[in-house]
Amino acid sequence: MTEDTVAQTAVPKGLTSKKGRKVDFVSLNDPTQTNYKRYVSGIEEFDRVCGGGLVPGSATLIGGDPGIGKSTLLLQAICALAQKGARCVYVSGEEAIDQVRMRAKRLGLAEAPVELASTTNIRDILTSVEGGEKPVEFLVIDSIQTMYVDNIESAPGTVTQVRTSAQEIIRYAKARNMAVLFVGHVTKEGQIAGPRVLEHMVDTVLYFEGDRSHHFRILRGVKNRFGPTDEIGVFEMEGGGLAEVENPSEIFLSQRNQDVAGSAVLAALEGSRPMLVEVQALAAPSSLASPRRSVIGWDPNRLAMIVAVLETRIGLQISGCDIFLNIAGGIRINEPAADLAVAAALISALQNNPLPAEMVFFGEVGLAGEVRQVAQPDLRLKEAHKLGFREAIIPKSKKSIAPKKAKNDEIRVSELEHIQMLADLFVSNAPPKAYAV
Ligand code: TYD
Ligand code: MG
Repeated sequence: MTEDTVAQTAVPKGLTSKKGRKVDFVSLNDPTQTNYKRYVSGIEEFDRVCGGGLVPGSATLIGGDPGIGKSTLLLQAICALAQKGARCVYVSGEEAIDQVRMRAKRLGLAEAPVELASTTNIRDILTSVEGGEKPVEFLVIDSIQTMYVDNIESAPGTVTQVRTSAQEIIRYAKARNMAVLFVGHVTKEGQIAGPRVLEHMVDTVLYFEGDRSHHFRILRGVKNRFGPTDEIGVFEMEGGGLAEVENPSEIFLSQRNQDVAGSAVLAALEGSRPMLVEVQALAAPSSLASPRRSVIGWDPNRLAMIVAVLETRIGLQISGCDIFLNIAGGIRINEPAADLAVAAALISALQNNPLPAEMVFFGEVGLAGEVRQVAQPDLRLKEAHKLGFREAIIPKSKKSIAPKKAKNDEIRVSELEHIQMLADLFVSNAPPKAYAV
């Protein structure tokens, strides 16, 4: 005999009558409203990604691989805010209080007036943050996957638990103007684990990423209701925690070997931030039926496309080669503006011909082999110029690049319309046109 429970579910019916409570509509324009108040932690890389500081009452989710430094980052941020006088609570569901204390000590933040707890029960957390002389302004939940609501039977980490726990906290936080920061685990594919709806529920979603074998960590904004997305913050994991990297270009290029074929410098743009990175390509004769295409830090599909364009449009012989592509320094580049740099690195690798050391590239490549414009060329050129680059290979633009500033401040710019012109450039070495930036 087995027992069968029949759940009584109410069949939803449509509205029977149109009578409801009257909601007052208001005008879109409210002249009395000012901008959001923002709490600035002083960790600039973090503040910028949040859109210029955390907004009271906002919910932020930070996802990332295990051990990448999510807890470290949030502990540093929350300690900085606490030291500025905000009331901050850090709830860890993963670590014991002593472990958190030890980390804080290692970070030199043991003195910060942060209130600490180690629990996983949402009801307990909400009861505990209630009251006190001053309302709690910041609450860190590390991590949302360990939390549970006690009137739901499923285990912590399941879809229902994660969703309900987040919902409860966000509702509470919005009502009391408290900012919450959730740590979220990610799946093998790099998505935040649990329901996708979690990302819809919060105001801001940040990903903390990086190659664990490198020191660099990138904090990337993928959703932000209070600021621009696609901003990045660059950090370096050191013995004493995460240090801000103010000038990532210098670091990403610091180990560049200038006379090696297959290395091209890309003037990338992440959010509002121009950044120079090195694209490395290696082409080796392959003994495989289908040669390898191995990519680190970029989109493999785009590499396949660039290879196909180079083969079809300018007749390069690539099909017999294994291709390895690497963005040096462990950073991930997402923008198509890297196409031209990748193409240049590939041509250079295939012809075993090093590129000029003071040359940067950016531009998108289309399937017809055309070189397309990308966002903010001026910003990229400026960054390249600042770092001592003297030549730039970029897409042809309708208007002339950047107004003149000073005579001696020059970066020579070659504007390409077709990928063929890139190949020609290496053959003829024709002097490019000069513009001032
Ligand atoms: P952690 O913040 O615990 O990662 P997460 O919460 O994302 O799982 O970071 C753990 C890693 O960071 C660990 O491998 C050690 C390293 N680390 C340092 O290198 N320096 C430090 O000062 C700290 C606190 C951690
Ligand atoms: Mg952690």
